[in-house]
Amino acid sequence: MSLEIKARLFNHSAMNLDLHSHRLILAPYTPEDLDLSLEIFTDPAVVKYAGEVMSEPAVKRKMSNWTKRGGDGCIGIWTVSDRRTGEKYGSAALLPMPVEEDDTDYSLVIPGKMPKCDIEIGYFLKRSAWGFGYATEACRRLLQFAFQETPLKEVVATFHIENLASRNVLEKAGFTDRGTMRCYGKDGLNFRITRDEWSKLQST
Ligand SMILES: CC(C)(COP(=O)(O)OP(=O)(O)OC[C@H]1O[C@@H](n2cnc3c(N)ncnc32)[C@H](O)[C@@H]1OP(=O)(O)O)[C@@H](O)C(=O)NCCC(=O)NCCS
Repeated sequence: MSLEIKARLFNHSAMNLDLHSHRLILAPYTPEDLDLSLEIFTDPAVVKYAGEVMSEPAVKRKMSNWTKRGGDGCIGIWTVSDRRTGEKYGSAALLPMPVEEDDTDYSLVIPGKMPKCDIEIGYFLKRSAWGFGYATEACRRLLQFAFQETPLKEVVATFHIENLASRNVLEKAGFTDRGTMRCYGKDGLNFRITRDEWSKLQST
C-alpha cells in the first residue's frame, strides 16, 4: 500500500459504507438492528463501564439517533456481523466526542456536514462475542475507513480506567495514551491516533 494515503474525494452516494475485514462485515446501523441494540443495552455486563442498563422503550426511542449518519456517511454507527454467517456481534462507531455532555450529541450528526469537534471511536459487543478479537478487528477496519476514505486527520477514544479490554483493543489498533481530556462531562483518559501515525503503522 502506498505510504501517501490521501483521503479520496467522497460523497455519501459514491462511498461504500459496507466495510469488510477478514472475518467481519461492518454495515450502517438500521432500524432492523433493534434486536441487537436490545441485547446489548439491556445487559448489565455490557454497559458496566460505558452507559447504563436501558429499558426496552428507552432503547426503541434511541434508535432514531443511532441510525443517523453525518458528514456524508463518514460518521455514525455500524453493525458488526460475521461475514460468513451474518450473525450480529455488536456495533462500532465514529461519533462526535461529547465534552461537557454525558452522552453523544446527535444533533451534530448531520448529513453532508462533518462536525468540527473530535471524533471518537466506540464499540459494544454482545457478551457471547467477547474474547475472539472481533472488537480489535472492527476497530482496525474503522480506522482504515476513517483515514483512507474520510477527511479525518485524527480519531480519539476514551474508556473507564478499569476497562482493560477496551484499552487493549485501542492499543492493538495503534492508539496511544495522551494523558487526560475533558470528555463526557469529566476528566477522562485521552487516547488518540493520527492519520500519519496510522499510515506509518501500515508500513511496519
Ligand atoms: C471492550 C470489548 C468491545 C472488547 O471486545 P473483544 O472482541 O472481546 O476484544 P478483543 O477480543 O479484540 O480483545 C482485545 C484484547 O483485550 C484482551 N481482553 C479482552 N477482554 C479482556 C478483559 N476483560 N480484561 C483484560 N483483557 C481483555 C484480549 O485478550 C485481547 O488481547 P490479546 O489479543 O492480546 O489476547 C467488549 O469487551 C465489550 O463489548 N465490552 C462492553 C462494552 C464496552 O465496554 N465497550 C467499550 C466502551 S469504551
